[in-house]
Amino acid sequence: MAAKTSSSTKIQTNSRRTAADVGFPTGLHIQIDRSGALGIRAQLEAALREAIQQSRLQPGATLPPSRTLAIELGIARSVVVEAYGQLAAEGYLEAFQGSGTRVRRRDVRTPSRAPALTQPAMNMAFTTGLPDPAFFPRKEWLRAYRAAVDESSATALGFPDPQGRVELRVALGDYLARVRSVRSSPEQVVICNGISQALMVVCRALHARGTERIAVEDPCFALHRRLIAACGMQPVSIPVDEHGLVISRVREARVDAVLVAPAHSYPSGAVLSPARRVELAEWATRQDALIVEDDYDAEFRFDRTPVGALQGLAPENVVYAGSVSKVLNPSLRLGWMVAPQRLVRDLIGAKLLYDMATESLGQLALAKFIEAGSLARHIRRVRPRYRARRDLLLLALAKRAPELKLLGAMAGLHLFLPLPNGVRERDVILAAKEDGLRVEGAARHWAEPASAPPAVLVGYGVLGEGTLDADVDALVSAIRGT
Ligand SMILES: Cc1ncc(COP(=O)(O)O)c(C=O)c1O
Repeated sequence: MAAKTSSSTKIQTNSRRTAADVGFPTGLHIQIDRSGALGIRAQLEAALREAIQQSRLQPGATLPPSRTLAIELGIARSVVVEAYGQLAAEGYLEAFQGSGTRVRRRDVRTPSRAPALTQPAMNMAFTTGLPDPAFFPRKEWLRAYRAAVDESSATALGFPDPQGRVELRVALGDYLARVRSVRSSPEQVVICNGISQALMVVCRALHARGTERIAVEDPCFALHRRLIAACGMQPVSIPVDEHGLVISRVREARVDAVLVAPAHSYPSGAVLSPARRVELAEWATRQDALIVEDDYDAEFRFDRTPVGALQGLAPENVVYAGSVSKVLNPSLRLGWMVAPQRLVRDLIGAKLLYDMATESLGQLALAKFIEAGSLARHIRRVRPRYRARRDLLLLALAKRAPELKLLGAMAGLHLFLPLPNGVRERDVILAAKEDGLRVEGAARHWAEPASAPPAVLVGYGVLGEGTLDADVDALVSAIRGT
Protein backbone atom coordinates (compact mmCIF):
# COMPACT_ATOMS: atom_id res chain seq x y z
CA MET A 1 0.00 0.00 0.00
CA ALA A 2 1.26 3.49 -0.71
CA ALA A 3 2.25 5.56 2.31
CA LYS A 4 -0.62 7.57 3.71
CA THR A 5 0.63 11.05 3.01
CA SER A 6 -0.69 13.97 1.13
CA SER A 7 1.43 16.66 -0.44
CA SER A 8 0.78 19.86 -2.24
CA THR A 9 3.49 21.02 -4.57
CA LYS A 10 3.78 24.49 -5.92
CA ILE A 11 5.53 24.28 -9.25
CA GLN A 12 8.10 26.87 -8.46
CA THR A 13 10.95 25.39 -6.51
CA ASN A 14 14.61 24.88 -6.52
CA SER A 15 16.06 22.07 -8.62
CA ARG A 16 18.74 22.84 -11.25
CA ARG A 17 16.19 23.74 -13.89
CA THR A 18 13.00 24.55 -12.06
CA ALA A 19 9.50 24.64 -13.39
CA ALA A 20 9.52 28.42 -13.02
CA ASP A 21 12.63 28.58 -15.20
CA VAL A 22 10.81 26.94 -18.03
CA GLY A 23 7.88 29.30 -17.91
CA PHE A 24 5.35 27.26 -15.95
CA PRO A 25 2.78 29.60 -14.42
CA THR A 26 3.91 30.50 -10.96
CA GLY A 27 0.63 30.29 -9.09
CA LEU A 28 -0.25 26.74 -10.07
CA HIS A 29 -0.50 24.11 -7.39
CA ILE A 30 -0.64 20.41 -8.00
CA GLN A 31 -1.96 18.33 -5.16
CA ILE A 32 -0.71 14.77 -5.00
CA ASP A 33 -2.67 12.76 -2.46
CA ARG A 34 -0.78 9.57 -1.78
CA SER A 35 -3.44 8.03 0.43
CA GLY A 36 -6.30 7.87 -2.06
CA ALA A 37 -7.39 5.16 -4.42
CA LEU A 38 -6.91 7.51 -7.35
CA GLY A 39 -3.48 6.80 -8.81
CA ILE A 40 -0.78 9.47 -8.96
CA ARG A 41 -0.80 9.61 -12.72
CA ALA A 42 -4.57 10.09 -12.76
CA GLN A 43 -4.27 12.89 -10.21
CA LEU A 44 -1.57 14.62 -12.20
CA GLU A 45 -3.58 14.30 -15.39
CA ALA A 46 -6.71 15.62 -13.69
CA ALA A 47 -4.85 18.60 -12.21
CA LEU A 48 -3.30 19.58 -15.55
CA ARG A 49 -6.52 18.96 -17.45
CA GLU A 50 -8.46 21.16 -15.05
CA ALA A 51 -5.83 23.91 -15.19
CA ILE A 52 -6.11 23.93 -18.98
CA GLN A 53 -9.91 23.84 -18.97
CA GLN A 54 -10.04 26.73 -16.52
CA SER A 55 -7.43 28.65 -18.53
CA ARG A 56 -5.01 28.76 -15.63
CA LEU A 57 -2.68 27.17 -18.14
CA GLN A 58 -2.99 29.20 -21.31
CA PRO A 59 -2.69 27.85 -24.86
CA GLY A 60 0.98 27.81 -25.80
CA ALA A 61 2.23 27.68 -22.19
CA THR A 62 5.30 25.48 -21.84
CA LEU A 63 5.21 22.67 -19.32
CA PRO A 64 8.29 21.79 -17.31
CA PRO A 65 10.42 18.96 -18.64
CA SER A 66 9.17 15.64 -17.28
CA ARG A 67 12.34 15.17 -15.21
CA THR A 68 11.95 18.58 -13.54
CA LEU A 69 8.30 18.08 -12.72
CA ALA A 70 8.94 14.57 -11.44
CA ILE A 71 11.63 15.82 -9.07
CA GLU A 72 9.46 18.65 -7.84
CA LEU A 73 6.48 16.42 -7.20
CA GLY A 74 8.60 13.59 -5.83
CA ILE A 75 7.19 11.07 -8.29
CA ALA A 76 8.62 8.82 -10.99
CA ARG A 77 9.51 10.52 -14.24
CA SER A 78 7.70 7.80 -16.17
CA VAL A 79 4.45 8.88 -14.48
CA VAL A 80 4.90 12.43 -15.77
CA VAL A 81 5.82 11.16 -19.23
CA GLU A 82 2.70 9.00 -19.30
CA ALA A 83 0.49 11.83 -18.02
CA TYR A 84 1.85 14.17 -20.71
CA GLY A 85 1.34 11.44 -23.30
CA GLN A 86 -2.25 10.89 -22.20
CA LEU A 87 -3.08 14.61 -22.30
CA ALA A 88 -1.40 14.93 -25.67
CA ALA A 89 -3.53 12.04 -26.89
CA GLU A 90 -6.60 13.82 -25.53
CA GLY A 91 -5.62 16.98 -27.39
CA TYR A 92 -4.76 19.18 -24.41
CA LEU A 93 -0.99 19.16 -24.92
CA GLU A 94 1.37 18.94 -27.82
CA ALA A 95 4.96 17.78 -27.81
CA PHE A 96 7.65 19.50 -29.86
CA GLN A 97 10.92 17.85 -30.68
CA GLY A 98 13.61 19.81 -28.83
CA SER A 99 11.32 22.41 -27.26
CA GLY A 100 9.27 20.35 -24.88
CA THR A 101 5.59 20.01 -24.20
CA ARG A 102 3.11 22.86 -24.46
CA VAL A 103 -0.57 23.48 -23.99
CA ARG A 104 -2.10 23.01 -27.40
CA ARG A 105 -3.02 26.23 -29.18
CA ARG A 106 -6.62 25.97 -30.14
CA ASP A 107 -8.49 27.60 -32.92
CA VAL A 108 -11.72 26.43 -31.33
CA ARG A 109 -12.99 27.63 -27.98
CA THR A 110 -11.73 25.59 -25.04
CA PRO A 111 -14.85 23.90 -23.65
CA SER A 112 -14.12 25.13 -20.14
CA ARG A 113 -17.70 25.12 -18.90
CA ALA A 114 -18.90 21.86 -20.43
CA PRO A 115 -20.44 19.82 -17.60
CA ALA A 116 -18.76 16.59 -18.71
CA LEU A 117 -15.36 18.14 -18.21
CA THR A 118 -16.13 19.31 -14.70
CA GLN A 119 -16.85 15.73 -13.63
CA PRO A 120 -14.03 14.24 -11.59
CA ALA A 121 -11.62 12.56 -14.00
CA MET A 122 -11.81 8.77 -13.95
CA ASN A 123 -8.72 6.65 -13.62
CA MET A 124 -8.55 4.69 -16.88
CA ALA A 125 -5.78 2.32 -15.73
CA PHE A 126 -7.67 -0.84 -16.69
CA THR A 127 -9.29 0.41 -19.89
CA THR A 128 -9.65 -2.44 -22.34
CA GLY A 129 -8.82 -2.58 -25.99
CA LEU A 130 -6.71 0.56 -26.09
CA PRO A 131 -3.01 0.58 -26.97
CA ASP A 132 -1.06 3.20 -25.05
CA PRO A 133 -1.33 6.53 -26.92
CA ALA A 134 2.06 7.42 -25.43
CA PHE A 135 3.59 4.61 -27.50
CA PHE A 136 2.26 6.00 -30.78
CA PRO A 137 5.32 6.46 -33.03
CA ARG A 138 4.58 10.07 -33.82
CA LYS A 139 7.82 10.87 -35.60
CA GLU A 140 7.80 7.81 -37.82
CA TRP A 141 4.13 8.23 -38.65
CA LEU A 142 4.64 11.89 -39.45
CA ARG A 143 7.56 11.01 -41.71
CA ALA A 144 5.44 8.47 -43.58
CA TYR A 145 2.48 10.84 -43.78
CA ARG A 146 4.61 13.75 -44.99
CA ALA A 147 6.17 11.56 -47.67
CA ALA A 148 2.69 10.40 -48.68
CA VAL A 149 1.52 14.00 -49.07
CA ASP A 150 4.71 15.17 -50.79
CA GLU A 151 4.79 12.33 -53.25
CA SER A 152 1.09 11.86 -53.90
CA SER A 153 0.24 11.81 -57.56
CA ALA A 154 -2.70 13.59 -59.17
CA THR A 155 -4.69 10.35 -59.11
CA ALA A 156 -4.02 9.93 -55.41
CA LEU A 157 -5.65 13.30 -54.88
CA GLY A 158 -8.69 12.40 -56.91
CA PHE A 159 -11.68 10.39 -55.69
CA PRO A 160 -10.37 7.30 -53.89
CA ASP A 161 -10.77 3.77 -55.24
CA PRO A 162 -13.36 1.89 -53.12
CA GLN A 163 -11.01 -1.10 -53.10
CA GLY A 164 -8.22 1.03 -51.65
CA ARG A 165 -4.83 2.25 -52.82
CA VAL A 166 -2.81 -0.34 -54.68
CA GLU A 167 0.38 0.76 -52.83
CA LEU A 168 -1.19 -0.25 -49.52
CA ARG A 169 -2.70 -3.45 -50.88
CA VAL A 170 0.73 -4.54 -52.12
CA ALA A 171 2.50 -3.55 -48.88
CA LEU A 172 -0.12 -5.34 -46.81
CA GLY A 173 0.07 -8.48 -48.92
CA ASP A 174 3.80 -8.81 -48.19
CA TYR A 175 3.46 -7.85 -44.54
CA LEU A 176 0.53 -10.19 -43.81
CA ALA A 177 2.22 -13.08 -45.58
CA ARG A 178 5.34 -12.61 -43.46
CA VAL A 179 3.77 -11.86 -40.12
CA ARG A 180 0.41 -13.66 -40.21
CA SER A 181 0.91 -16.29 -42.96
CA VAL A 182 -1.99 -14.83 -44.91
CA ARG A 183 -2.11 -15.93 -48.55
CA SER A 184 -3.27 -13.22 -50.92
CA SER A 185 -2.74 -11.19 -54.06
CA PRO A 186 -3.29 -7.39 -54.11
CA GLU A 187 -6.54 -8.01 -56.04
CA GLN A 188 -7.96 -9.80 -53.02
CA VAL A 189 -7.31 -6.97 -50.57
CA VAL A 190 -10.00 -4.38 -49.81
CA ILE A 191 -9.12 -1.43 -47.58
CA CYS A 192 -11.66 -0.23 -45.03
CA ASN A 193 -11.99 1.84 -41.87
CA GLY A 194 -11.20 -0.89 -39.37
CA ILE A 195 -12.40 -4.40 -38.64
CA SER A 196 -15.82 -3.23 -37.54
CA GLN A 197 -16.42 -1.71 -40.95
CA ALA A 198 -15.04 -4.81 -42.61
CA LEU A 199 -17.67 -6.85 -40.79
CA MET A 200 -20.39 -4.43 -41.82
CA VAL A 201 -19.29 -4.58 -45.47
CA VAL A 202 -19.09 -8.40 -45.43
CA CYS A 203 -22.52 -8.68 -43.83
CA ARG A 204 -24.09 -6.32 -46.33
CA ALA A 205 -22.54 -8.26 -49.20
CA LEU A 206 -23.65 -11.62 -47.73
CA HIS A 207 -27.14 -10.38 -46.97
CA ALA A 208 -27.51 -9.13 -50.52
CA ARG A 209 -26.66 -12.70 -51.64
CA GLY A 210 -29.36 -14.11 -49.40
CA THR A 211 -27.40 -15.16 -46.31
CA GLU A 212 -29.58 -14.67 -43.24
CA ARG A 213 -27.65 -16.15 -40.32
CA ILE A 214 -24.08 -15.86 -39.14
CA ALA A 215 -22.64 -17.72 -36.15
CA VAL A 216 -20.85 -15.57 -33.57
CA GLU A 217 -18.88 -16.44 -30.48
CA ASP A 218 -20.71 -16.14 -27.18
CA PRO A 219 -19.29 -14.00 -25.67
CA CYS A 220 -18.02 -11.78 -28.48
CA PHE A 221 -17.28 -8.10 -28.93
CA ALA A 222 -20.78 -6.67 -28.30
CA LEU A 223 -20.62 -4.05 -31.02
CA HIS A 224 -20.16 -6.74 -33.64
CA ARG A 225 -23.39 -8.48 -32.68
CA ARG A 226 -25.16 -5.15 -33.09
CA LEU A 227 -23.49 -4.46 -36.44
CA ILE A 228 -24.64 -7.83 -37.77
CA ALA A 229 -28.22 -7.19 -36.68
CA ALA A 230 -28.08 -3.70 -38.19
CA CYS A 231 -27.28 -5.32 -41.56
CA GLY A 232 -30.48 -7.35 -41.32
CA MET A 233 -28.72 -10.59 -40.44
CA GLN A 234 -29.25 -12.81 -37.44
CA PRO A 235 -26.27 -13.42 -35.14
CA VAL A 236 -26.46 -17.04 -33.93
CA SER A 237 -24.63 -17.47 -30.63
CA ILE A 238 -22.17 -20.34 -30.29
CA PRO A 239 -20.43 -20.97 -26.96
CA VAL A 240 -16.73 -20.40 -26.37
CA ASP A 241 -14.86 -22.62 -23.91
CA GLU A 242 -11.20 -22.74 -22.91
CA HIS A 243 -10.31 -24.12 -26.37
CA GLY A 244 -12.18 -21.36 -28.16
CA LEU A 245 -15.31 -21.58 -30.30
CA VAL A 246 -17.13 -24.92 -29.95
CA ILE A 247 -17.09 -26.11 -33.56
CA SER A 248 -19.55 -29.00 -33.04
CA ARG A 249 -22.14 -26.32 -32.20
CA VAL A 250 -21.30 -24.41 -35.37
CA ARG A 251 -22.01 -27.56 -37.36
CA GLU A 252 -25.41 -27.91 -35.69
CA ALA A 253 -26.35 -24.27 -36.16
CA ARG A 254 -27.18 -24.44 -39.87
CA VAL A 255 -25.36 -21.23 -40.75
CA ASP A 256 -23.52 -20.22 -43.92
CA ALA A 257 -21.03 -17.99 -42.18
CA VAL A 258 -19.21 -17.62 -38.89
CA LEU A 259 -17.42 -14.71 -37.24
CA VAL A 260 -14.52 -15.78 -35.05
CA ALA A 261 -11.39 -14.30 -33.45
CA PRO A 262 -9.24 -17.46 -33.41
CA ALA A 263 -6.02 -15.88 -32.15
CA HIS A 264 -7.67 -14.28 -29.12
CA SER A 265 -11.40 -14.44 -28.62
CA TYR A 266 -12.87 -11.28 -27.14
CA PRO A 267 -13.45 -10.83 -24.24
CA SER A 268 -12.73 -14.32 -22.86
CA GLY A 269 -9.18 -14.39 -24.23
CA ALA A 270 -9.57 -18.03 -25.37
CA VAL A 271 -7.25 -19.12 -28.18
CA LEU A 272 -8.77 -21.51 -30.73
CA SER A 273 -6.99 -24.83 -30.28
CA PRO A 274 -5.04 -26.33 -33.21
CA ALA A 275 -7.57 -29.19 -33.49
CA ARG A 276 -10.50 -26.80 -33.65
CA ARG A 277 -8.77 -24.57 -36.19
CA VAL A 278 -8.54 -27.56 -38.50
CA GLU A 279 -12.11 -28.62 -37.67
CA LEU A 280 -13.45 -25.15 -38.48
CA ALA A 281 -11.48 -24.87 -41.72
CA GLU A 282 -12.72 -28.32 -42.81
CA TRP A 283 -16.32 -27.48 -41.95
CA ALA A 284 -16.15 -24.27 -44.01
CA THR A 285 -14.58 -26.03 -46.98
CA ARG A 286 -17.07 -28.90 -46.91
CA GLN A 287 -20.10 -26.61 -46.50
CA ASP A 288 -18.71 -23.92 -48.78
CA ALA A 289 -19.36 -21.61 -45.85
CA LEU A 290 -17.55 -18.39 -45.04
CA ILE A 291 -15.37 -17.71 -42.01
CA VAL A 292 -14.89 -14.05 -41.11
CA GLU A 293 -11.61 -14.02 -39.20
CA ASP A 294 -11.29 -11.11 -36.77
CA ASP A 295 -7.52 -10.80 -36.29
CA TYR A 296 -7.65 -7.69 -34.10
CA ASP A 297 -4.69 -8.16 -31.75
CA ALA A 298 -2.84 -11.33 -32.78
CA GLU A 299 0.54 -9.58 -32.90
CA PHE A 300 0.43 -9.32 -29.12
CA ARG A 301 1.04 -12.94 -28.25
CA PHE A 302 3.40 -13.17 -25.31
CA ASP A 303 4.23 -16.78 -24.58
CA ARG A 304 5.29 -17.72 -28.10
CA THR A 305 5.45 -16.44 -31.67
CA PRO A 306 1.95 -15.54 -32.84
CA VAL A 307 0.14 -18.45 -34.51
CA GLY A 308 -0.53 -17.79 -38.19
CA ALA A 309 -3.94 -16.67 -39.37
CA LEU A 310 -6.66 -19.24 -39.95
CA GLN A 311 -6.95 -17.80 -43.47
CA GLY A 312 -3.80 -19.69 -44.45
CA LEU A 313 -5.65 -22.97 -43.86
CA ALA A 314 -8.67 -22.21 -46.05
CA PRO A 315 -8.08 -19.09 -48.18
CA GLU A 316 -11.09 -19.88 -50.38
CA ASN A 317 -13.44 -19.79 -47.41
CA VAL A 318 -12.06 -17.04 -45.17
CA VAL A 319 -12.42 -13.29 -45.21
CA TYR A 320 -9.49 -12.21 -43.09
CA ALA A 321 -9.97 -8.83 -41.33
CA GLY A 322 -7.31 -6.80 -39.59
CA SER A 323 -6.56 -3.20 -38.66
CA VAL A 324 -4.02 -0.89 -37.07
CA SER A 325 -6.31 -0.22 -34.11
CA LYS A 326 -4.40 -2.33 -31.57
CA VAL A 327 -0.93 -2.42 -33.07
CA LEU A 328 -0.78 1.32 -33.73
CA ASN A 329 -3.81 3.39 -32.79
CA PRO A 330 -7.59 3.13 -33.26
CA SER A 331 -8.00 6.81 -34.17
CA LEU A 332 -6.48 6.15 -37.60
CA ARG A 333 -9.48 4.03 -38.65
CA LEU A 334 -7.46 1.97 -41.10
CA GLY A 335 -8.17 -1.67 -41.70
CA TRP A 336 -8.26 -4.32 -44.41
CA MET A 337 -9.98 -7.43 -45.64
CA VAL A 338 -8.38 -10.25 -47.59
CA ALA A 339 -11.18 -12.08 -49.36
CA PRO A 340 -11.61 -15.07 -51.65
CA GLN A 341 -11.50 -13.76 -55.21
CA ARG A 342 -15.14 -14.76 -55.85
CA LEU A 343 -16.33 -12.31 -53.15
CA VAL A 344 -14.13 -9.33 -53.91
CA ARG A 345 -16.42 -7.62 -56.38
CA ASP A 346 -19.37 -7.77 -53.97
CA LEU A 347 -17.25 -6.43 -51.11
CA ILE A 348 -16.03 -3.51 -53.20
CA GLY A 349 -19.65 -2.80 -54.20
CA ALA A 350 -20.79 -2.85 -50.57
CA LYS A 351 -17.91 -0.60 -49.52
CA LEU A 352 -18.75 1.86 -52.31
CA LEU A 353 -22.36 2.09 -51.22
CA TYR A 354 -21.41 2.32 -47.57
CA ASP A 355 -19.03 5.30 -47.60
CA MET A 356 -17.59 5.49 -51.13
CA ALA A 357 -14.02 4.69 -50.03
CA THR A 358 -11.43 5.08 -47.32
CA GLU A 359 -9.45 8.31 -47.58
CA SER A 360 -6.27 8.01 -49.62
CA LEU A 361 -3.52 9.89 -47.76
CA GLY A 362 -3.75 7.77 -44.63
CA GLN A 363 -3.55 4.66 -46.82
CA LEU A 364 -0.47 5.96 -48.62
CA ALA A 365 1.13 6.85 -45.29
CA LEU A 366 0.46 3.37 -43.95
CA ALA A 367 1.93 1.83 -47.11
CA LYS A 368 5.12 3.84 -46.58
CA PHE A 369 5.13 3.05 -42.88
CA ILE A 370 4.98 -0.66 -43.63
CA GLU A 371 7.50 -0.53 -46.49
CA ALA A 372 10.00 1.31 -44.29
CA GLY A 373 9.74 -1.49 -41.73
CA SER A 374 8.29 0.95 -39.18
CA LEU A 375 5.24 -1.17 -38.36
CA ALA A 376 7.30 -4.28 -37.67
CA ARG A 377 9.79 -2.21 -35.67
CA HIS A 378 7.02 -0.59 -33.66
CA ILE A 379 5.51 -3.96 -32.78
CA ARG A 380 8.94 -5.29 -31.77
CA ARG A 381 9.35 -2.24 -29.55
CA VAL A 382 5.98 -2.27 -27.80
CA ARG A 383 5.37 -6.02 -27.42
CA PRO A 384 7.91 -6.43 -24.58
CA ARG A 385 6.54 -3.33 -22.89
CA TYR A 386 2.99 -4.69 -22.90
CA ARG A 387 4.29 -8.06 -21.75
CA ALA A 388 6.06 -6.33 -18.85
CA ARG A 389 2.84 -4.52 -17.93
CA ARG A 390 0.90 -7.77 -18.06
CA ASP A 391 3.50 -9.49 -15.86
CA LEU A 392 3.45 -6.66 -13.32
CA LEU A 393 -0.34 -6.76 -13.25
CA LEU A 394 -0.45 -10.54 -12.81
CA LEU A 395 2.11 -10.33 -10.04
CA ALA A 396 0.34 -7.50 -8.22
CA LEU A 397 -2.99 -9.34 -8.41
CA ALA A 398 -1.47 -12.65 -7.31
CA LYS A 399 0.14 -10.92 -4.33
CA ARG A 400 -2.96 -9.12 -3.16
CA ALA A 401 -5.69 -11.52 -4.17
CA PRO A 402 -4.32 -15.02 -4.84
CA GLU A 403 -7.88 -16.35 -4.80
CA LEU A 404 -8.67 -14.61 -8.10
CA LYS A 405 -8.42 -16.64 -11.27
CA LEU A 406 -7.34 -14.78 -14.39
CA LEU A 407 -7.95 -15.93 -17.94
CA GLY A 408 -6.70 -14.92 -21.35
CA ALA A 409 -3.25 -13.79 -20.23
CA MET A 410 -1.43 -15.36 -23.18
CA ALA A 411 -2.21 -12.61 -25.65
CA GLY A 412 -3.80 -9.25 -26.24
CA LEU A 413 -4.07 -6.24 -23.99
CA HIS A 414 -6.50 -7.38 -21.31
CA LEU A 415 -7.23 -10.11 -18.77
CA PHE A 416 -10.58 -11.75 -18.14
CA LEU A 417 -11.36 -11.90 -14.44
CA PRO A 418 -14.29 -14.12 -13.38
CA LEU A 419 -15.66 -12.79 -10.10
CA PRO A 420 -15.72 -14.99 -6.99
CA ASN A 421 -18.99 -16.65 -6.02
CA GLY A 422 -21.63 -14.25 -4.82
CA VAL A 423 -19.86 -11.12 -6.13
CA ARG A 424 -21.92 -9.17 -8.62
CA GLU A 425 -20.36 -7.45 -11.60
CA ARG A 426 -22.45 -4.33 -11.11
CA ASP A 427 -21.38 -3.94 -7.49
CA VAL A 428 -17.71 -4.15 -8.45
CA ILE A 429 -18.12 -1.57 -11.20
CA LEU A 430 -19.94 0.82 -8.88
CA ALA A 431 -17.50 0.36 -6.00
CA ALA A 432 -14.56 0.95 -8.33
CA LYS A 433 -16.29 4.00 -9.75
CA GLU A 434 -16.70 5.47 -6.29
CA ASP A 435 -12.94 5.21 -5.98
CA GLY A 436 -12.55 6.99 -9.30
CA LEU A 437 -11.53 3.82 -11.15
CA ARG A 438 -13.23 2.79 -14.38
CA VAL A 439 -13.70 -0.96 -14.68
CA GLU A 440 -15.50 -2.66 -17.56
CA GLY A 441 -17.93 -5.48 -16.91
CA ALA A 442 -18.04 -8.47 -19.25
CA ALA A 443 -21.79 -9.15 -19.23
CA ARG A 444 -22.65 -6.90 -22.16
CA HIS A 445 -20.52 -9.06 -24.45
CA TRP A 446 -22.79 -12.07 -23.90
CA ALA A 447 -25.89 -12.66 -26.01
CA GLU A 448 -27.89 -12.78 -22.74
CA PRO A 449 -26.16 -10.33 -20.38
CA ALA A 450 -28.58 -11.11 -17.53
CA SER A 451 -27.41 -14.71 -17.31
CA ALA A 452 -23.71 -14.06 -17.99
CA PRO A 453 -21.26 -15.37 -15.38
CA PRO A 454 -20.10 -12.29 -13.42
CA ALA A 455 -16.72 -11.10 -14.64
CA VAL A 456 -14.76 -7.94 -15.28
CA LEU A 457 -12.15 -7.09 -17.88
CA VAL A 458 -8.80 -5.74 -16.79
CA GLY A 459 -6.96 -3.95 -19.58
CA TYR A 460 -3.27 -3.19 -19.30
CA GLY A 461 -2.59 -1.32 -22.54
CA VAL A 462 -2.65 2.07 -20.81
CA LEU A 463 -1.75 0.91 -17.35
CA GLY A 464 0.59 3.27 -15.49
CA GLU A 465 3.48 1.27 -14.09
CA GLY A 466 4.07 3.91 -11.39
CA THR A 467 0.48 3.72 -10.12
CA LEU A 468 -0.08 0.01 -10.54
CA ASP A 469 -0.04 -0.88 -6.84
CA ALA A 470 -2.65 1.72 -5.91
CA ASP A 471 -4.80 0.80 -8.92
CA VAL A 472 -4.71 -2.91 -8.07
CA ASP A 473 -5.50 -2.13 -4.42
CA ALA A 474 -8.57 -0.21 -5.56
CA LEU A 475 -9.67 -3.02 -7.87
CA VAL A 476 -9.23 -5.71 -5.22
CA SER A 477 -11.10 -3.58 -2.66
CA ALA A 478 -13.94 -3.17 -5.12
CA ILE A 479 -14.12 -6.94 -5.64
CA ARG A 480 -13.94 -7.73 -1.94
CA GLY A 481 -16.42 -4.98 -1.13
CA THR A 482 -14.00 -3.42 1.33
C1 LIG B 1 -12.55 -8.27 -30.83
C2 LIG B 1 -12.45 -6.97 -31.55
N1 LIG B 1 -12.47 -6.94 -32.87
C3 LIG B 1 -12.43 -5.79 -33.55
C4 LIG B 1 -12.38 -4.58 -32.89
C5 LIG B 1 -12.50 -3.29 -33.63
O1 LIG B 1 -11.45 -3.01 -34.36
P1 LIG B 1 -11.42 -1.80 -35.38
O2 LIG B 1 -11.00 -0.60 -34.58
O3 LIG B 1 -10.42 -2.25 -36.35
O4 LIG B 1 -12.78 -1.59 -35.96
C6 LIG B 1 -12.32 -4.55 -31.52
C7 LIG B 1 -12.24 -3.28 -30.84
O5 LIG B 1 -11.89 -3.10 -29.72
C8 LIG B 1 -12.38 -5.78 -30.83
O6 LIG B 1 -12.36 -5.80 -29.50
